[in-house]
Amino acid sequence: METKQLTQGEIELAAQILREGGLVGIPTETVYGLGANGLNPEAVRHIFQAKGRPQDNPLILHIPTVDWLERYCREIPDAAYELARRFWPGPMTMVLKRRDVVPDVVTAGLDTVGMRCPEHALCRALLAAADVPVAAPSGNTSGRPSPTTAQHMLEDMDGKIDAILDGGPCSVGVESTIIDLTCTPPRLLRPGGITLEQLRDALGQVAVDPAVTRLLGAGEKPKAPGMKYRHYAPKAPVTVVTGPAERSAAYIARHAGAEDGIICFDEFTALFRSEERPRTVMDLGPAGDKEEQARRIFDALRAFDHTHVPAIWAQCPDAEGIGLAIANRLNKAAGFHIIQA
Ligand code: TXA
Ligand code: MG
Repeated sequence: METKQLTQGEIELAAQILREGGLVGIPTETVYGLGANGLNPEAVRHIFQAKGRPQDNPLILHIPTVDWLERYCREIPDAAYELARRFWPGPMTMVLKRRDVVPDVVTAGLDTVGMRCPEHALCRALLAAADVPVAAPSGNTSGRPSPTTAQHMLEDMDGKIDAILDGGPCSVGVESTIIDLTCTPPRLLRPGGITLEQLRDALGQVAVDPAVTRLLGAGEKPKAPGMKYRHYAPKAPVTVVTGPAERSAAYIARHAGAEDGIICFDEFTALFRSEERPRTVMDLGPAGDKEEQARRIFDALRAFDHTHVPAIWAQCPDAEGIGLAIANRLNKAAGFHIIQA
């Protein structure tokens, strides 16, 4: 299959492919998604095949406006409308009780469904034109870092999907925040573009699923099935170093081998790369700019797959704001191998 590369002007064509049961790479503000008509079980099955995704990992449905919630969800709590009012369209997914119209293959048989109303202008235009809810996981091969450019997505999906709509680089760079509203208190299942602080400001108490911050033990089950898989993992083993930026940089400088790869803040690139040590160093952006770090994190992890570094060391921001999402992605890439400097 040849994957068509579509530009802004070809939204109607992309919408048509979706309506007819095809697969389209869609830009969103978080990461690129692999979209199909969420009401067509056969089309949704193709998503799992193209990604090599385990069947027990449910997909989220993307909708153009909050009005569509009632079509696919039931017993919607007021909290859902309050969150939608504050954060939709935007990088937040709500887990709600589902209606029977949602095919089992979308929810992996769960009684709940993840719902998201994205903000990216091209994505919104596509959802409106398609006039169906679009089931879309991140557009990477299962286990690889999520794609934040059309080029990344083509690396994984060229020849496996019908088309990709190029909407430029993603402005958030990490996947949406997932909040489960079917339990009390509401529970953060995955940190993302909307921060825990923002959720608590809107809802009061919010629990944090243990899978967000640590490796689960045998027999423990995360509420978001996808959180149990090793993820975003480059081929080389990753060690995450936390603590104040100067301390983590100094720790890595002492321990990293001459050939090792480094993920670090702007201020420290020169410390790690010099003429004597031509290491692969991926720059996350300034230590104080977590928004930029979020935009670059997946690109940094992906870049190492084109190298032969024996190991990777990563500086990590603190957990405040979107730092929680960045730390979560780095920690998952590292299999929660974390050192406190
Ligand atoms: O930003 C995003 O959310 C992107 C873009 C494309 O919208 N999508 C995305 O989808 O990250 P995916 O499939 O890569 O991650 C969705 C996560 C998975 O960990 C899955 O297990 C979880 O959401 N999930 C989906 N439905 C769920 C449900 N009903 N209950 C609990 N977790 C659910
Ligand atoms: Mg994913």
